[in-house]
Amino acid sequence: MVYINQNNRGPRDDGMLPAIDAVPKGYTIDVRVFLAVITTTMALAFTAGVMIGPTDPRLVTPILSFLKVPLPELYALHEPATMAKAIKTSSSNNIEAAPARKVAEGTLDVNQAGGGSNTSKKAKEVIISANGDIVAAVADDDVAGDVIIKQPKRTPTDHVGTLGYKIKEVHVNIDTPVLEGTGNDVPYDRDVSYNNVSHHEERSGGLEQPLLRDQSNPSGQHLLVDIRNVEAAFLNSESRLAEAMQESVTAGGLTMLSYHCHSLHPAGVSCVGVLLESHISFHTWPDEGVITLDLFTTSEKPLLPLLPKIEELFGVPRIDPETGLEEKIVALWSHELRGFRTEDDRKANPLDGQSDLANWVTSPLEVVYKKQIVSMQTEHQRIDIWDARERDDTPSYDDGKKLGLKPDDPRWLSNEHASPTRLFFLNGALQVISKHEREFHESLVQPAMFAHPSPKTVAIIGGGEGATLREVLRHKSVEKVTMIELDEKVVEVSKEFMPYLSNCTDIVGSAANCFDDDRANLIIADAFKYIVDKQINSEFDVLIVDAMNPEDHDEFTNSDVINGLVNSLTPSGVMAVQIGFAPSILDPRADKGMNRKRELLINNLESSPGISSIHIYEESHCGYWEPRAFLVACRDVSCRKHWYAETDEVDYQVYDRIGGTRSGERSLVHFDGATQRSFHAPPRAWETIYCLREPQPFECAYRGLDLDKELFEYFPENEDSSAFEIRATKTTTDDGEVKDGAVVYAKVDIPTGSYIMPTHLAASFEVSDDSMENISGEPTADLEGVGKAIVVDDFIEYIDAYGHPSLQVGSGKNFVEVGGSFVIRTSDDANEANVRRWIPTHPEGGRPKFSPVYDRHRHSFDVFLVASRDIKAGEEIVKPLTLWKV
Ligand SMILES: *[C@@H]1O[C@H](CO)[C@@H](O)[C@H](O)[C@H]1NC(C)=O
Ligand SMILES: *[C@@H]1O[C@H](CO)[C@@H](O)[C@H](O)[C@H]1NC(C)=O
Ligand SMILES: *[C@@H]1O[C@H](CO)[C@@H](O)[C@H](O)[C@H]1NC(C)=O
Ligand SMILES: *[C@@H]1O[C@H](CO)[C@@H](O)[C@H](O)[C@H]1NC(C)=O
Repeated sequence: MVYINQNNRGPRDDGMLPAIDAVPKGYTIDVRVFLAVITTTMALAFTAGVMIGPTDPRLVTPILSFLKVPLPELYALHEPATMAKAIKTSSSNNIEAAPARKVAEGTLDVNQAGGGSNTSKKAKEVIISANGDIVAAVADDDVAGDVIIKQPKRTPTDHVGTLGYKIKEVHVNIDTPVLEGTGNDVPYDRDVSYNNVSHHEERSGGLEQPLLRDQSNPSGQHLLVDIRNVEAAFLNSESRLAEAMQESVTAGGLTMLSYHCHSLHPAGVSCVGVLLESHISFHTWPDEGVITLDLFTTSEKPLLPLLPKIEELFGVPRIDPETGLEEKIVALWSHELRGFRTEDDRKANPLDGQSDLANWVTSPLEVVYKKQIVSMQTEHQRIDIWDARERDDTPSYDDGKKLGLKPDDPRWLSNEHASPTRLFFLNGALQVISKHEREFHESLVQPAMFAHPSPKTVAIIGGGEGATLREVLRHKSVEKVTMIELDEKVVEVSKEFMPYLSNCTDIVGSAANCFDDDRANLIIADAFKYIVDKQINSEFDVLIVDAMNPEDHDEFTNSDVINGLVNSLTPSGVMAVQIGFAPSILDPRADKGMNRKRELLINNLESSPGISSIHIYEESHCGYWEPRAFLVACRDVSCRKHWYAETDEVDYQVYDRIGGTRSGERSLVHFDGATQRSFHAPPRAWETIYCLREPQPFECAYRGLDLDKELFEYFPENEDSSAFEIRATKTTTDDGEVKDGAVVYAKVDIPTGSYIMPTHLAASFEVSDDSMENISGEPTADLEGVGKAIVVDDFIEYIDAYGHPSLQVGSGKNFVEVGGSFVIRTSDDANEANVRRWIPTHPEGGRPKFSPVYDRHRHSFDVFLVASRDIKAGEEIVKPLTLWKV
């Protein structure tokens, strides 16, 4: 035992602290020097222990002697037995070589049931103790490969610290007698429940968290708790705090080995408790009324249920001196699973750092309000619902209205008056954000619904929360909705805890709850299996896949499933799938990285003969940190007409096809013509990753005008600086009629690939088949009477002559040249022609079913012309007749 001469601690008579050389030689030492030395020693030895491995006294000794710590005393504390064990496990006397692994034999005596004859079998797993004894083994009849050797769950020792001496006896307290305990109380399990939602006792009783499964993993749970508005006297009392610490440890079913507290100058307490399962520690600020506490355990017992107990034990409220009332305790907390677990263990635990539940709720301290509403394990999955409010949340428009906030009210900037967001998780993956669910569900449902001319039968896969159904039921054309959800608990829980998701009260012609609408038909089944097994054929006008992200679904990678889904669509059917998050321009090839299953889904749709056109779009207003991505796949190319519809057409369709509301409010809050317009082309990252495909798709060479090529312009007002000259001609037709015309000549040499009159071509106008039909139709006849028919007829004639259909087959769009380029003569002799369109015909014919490049550059592809060979100055410019043939 280290002996410290108390007599030598105080100040000298002259008020000075004794000089170091005044310390008597021998077994007394200045306490400050001792403290410094022992702290440094422990830190160094601990670091060494972490790096090199525990229990090697030979490592500690030189450090201690180097630091001139009185060696004999410390050394005497090594327990020979412990050392011997440590060395026994080493076959080579080489402690660093993790000796324990060498001692297990990997065999297991199995007592045959009933028989009594023992056989020796190879074990799959062998659990060994620190001294190499086999503690347990797991049998496996089909052992293949290596035997897994595991360290056992930790067991208490007789207080021997890993440095080889008894930590308990090496302590110093500056001011007050040390307060130290051994935590000998028998641990017991308390019934700790938290936010028990009383009417859902059986399924939401407390913060359920699966046990950490594999104790041999070097991992644990860390709980951080910061509490404010705590009584100063409590925060200054070592004994009260130590008692609270002891009690919370006991309540958590943990084992305290020893603890150690210091009072600090001028106020506050620091404590650390050594647990069999690791440690608990805290620090207090009595003046500020704050305690920060952390608890780290390697125990398999979940820590979250202990939170309310910790808040209760340490959250002793202080009294507001002005009001004389108890202040409201504010507690912030964070839970982390730390260390290293196997990937399977991580995936299985919804509180793992890679889950949304951890990232959005349990981990961030910035989420200042967290309340668990539901936590349950169903037959299929785990459901969690939480209310959460972040530090920088502020009141919404509705919050302000409810509170009657005036424009200059300071509460507009306070998070306390913002209503919390309700978050719905399945297996830890975020499914619904209450505040943004309308944007999300309208973005998933409405583009597909409007891509079909008049959807009558609709199927929904998943979507048990009801909001997808709600969006479908807004359409007057819909006669039947088949919803196939795997887990009826999702329906039940959402109806109860997020009733707005399935609230159809406001929809004229629907029921109070969307599930009760006569048109809705809920089937509880595995939808993918259901559709494949039933071989549903040509039944749904629209099919919406509102299941989890493709990365979590192997079904999407199965072409049988995809073909089953496609076959269930009617000939003009449209399918919508939510496909996770936006890619980034830095992503690897889509079939390699995180999103490879999404790429397989797209590949399967591309190779499905039933699909003609696939479009990707993103919406960034769904409340997630990144934009959400969606996919629409159509059986017929004519859906491009609806997909690329202009804002006015969609606005009109919304009016025409969406039913009214009882409240008179607009039915849709996010989707309209302009929103659809923003979906016409996917963000550039989609093109970037698409063009990483191997071999690179043909059109990827046309992602923007080629910078190596020159632009050759025509300026009608300044022919001198123009690259072209337009000369008037007179031609005589077969009937002998003389017609005025014009031809275009090059004034300069134009190399192959150069752009011909790009500014004129970029001014081309777009006219739809519908418009053409209307111009050519009945009104023209009426107009004849008012003398405008000639103009209209000329217009139609012009479009016939200089317009061409878009390369986006099915889009019903035509592009009409209006600049100098329309004068360029067209020849049916391909050899005579010297210009071609910028993007040549795709080697496979029309545009591919799926191509973000065509979607993004379709207007450029539909207008620009380039020189198809070197053109000499003075040559006439000639277009081929087949210029715009697809
Ligand atoms: C079988 O093994 C068990 C455990 O090692 C032992 O208790 C028992 O005596 C053995 N029985 C026979 C028949 O060897
Ligand atoms: C929790 O549930 C139990 C049993 O139903 C009940 O007695 C208790 O009052 C509930 N606690 C809270 C805080 O609601
Ligand atoms: C459903 O919505 C209506 C308003 O459209 C509202 O009055 C009603 O309270 C809501 N019902 C539920 C259960 O949320
Ligand atoms: C104009 O076009 C729309 C859409 O194709 C069509 O419904 C309407 O009948 C047309 N009107 C005339 C006068 O042709």
